[in-house]
Amino acid sequence: MKKIIALGGSNSKKSINKALAIYAANKIKDSEVTVIDLSKYELPLYGVDLEAESGIPENAVIINNMLESSDAIVVSLAEHNGSYSTAFKNAYDWMSRINQKVWKNKPMLLMTTSPGARGGIGVLESAKMSFPHLGANIIADFSLPSFYDNFSENGLKNEELNNSLNEKIELLEKAI
Ligand SMILES: Cc1cc2nc3c(=O)[nH]c(=O)nc-3n(C[C@H](O)[C@H](O)[C@H](O)COP(=O)(O)O)c2cc1C
Repeated sequence: MKKIIALGGSNSKKSINKALAIYAANKIKDSEVTVIDLSKYELPLYGVDLEAESGIPENAVIINNMLESSDAIVVSLAEHNGSYSTAFKNAYDWMSRINQKVWKNKPMLLMTTSPGARGGIGVLESAKMSFPHLGANIIADFSLPSFYDNFSENGLKNEELNNSLNEKIELLEKAI
């Protein structure tokens, strides 16, 4: 069994990105999925002074260890004003202080979704550029536009998008 991390880049309890990440991760054959739900791993706002005074928070260490012990990472990022959600960026910054290779060269399916027609493409493009510098091995990427029109746990409602995501999941399976 391959250990897959499903991570939604949001601290919303009802995160659509968490839902997409879990959906895609569960489609990977012979795998067991661990969900990193950022709403359950609260972290103080990163600051160099706080780090100097208090060190790395336990929740950042826990997330780091979960990524470390995985075989692959399925992540879907929320887009807030064209960029990462504050909760994701904060966790990301804390983790980068434990190990600069946050993603540990694990094969990654990188996704974004939003209720809008652009599907978080801005944050996707930004992550595609920057994640490799922090140890991401991006095997495939995917953006799901108009989440509430297109998402279904029984398969994406738009056939073209559904086929595209399935192909990307297969690419990830081959890389694990
Ligand atoms: C502060 C804020 C900024 C947002 N900015 C964007 C944006 O730039 N692009 C976009 O497509 N959606 C934007 N949205 C809508 C989010 O895509 C939507 O809230 C989505 O549910 C976030 O993903 P999540 O459910 O995984 O947290 C924004 C939402 C908030 C609260």
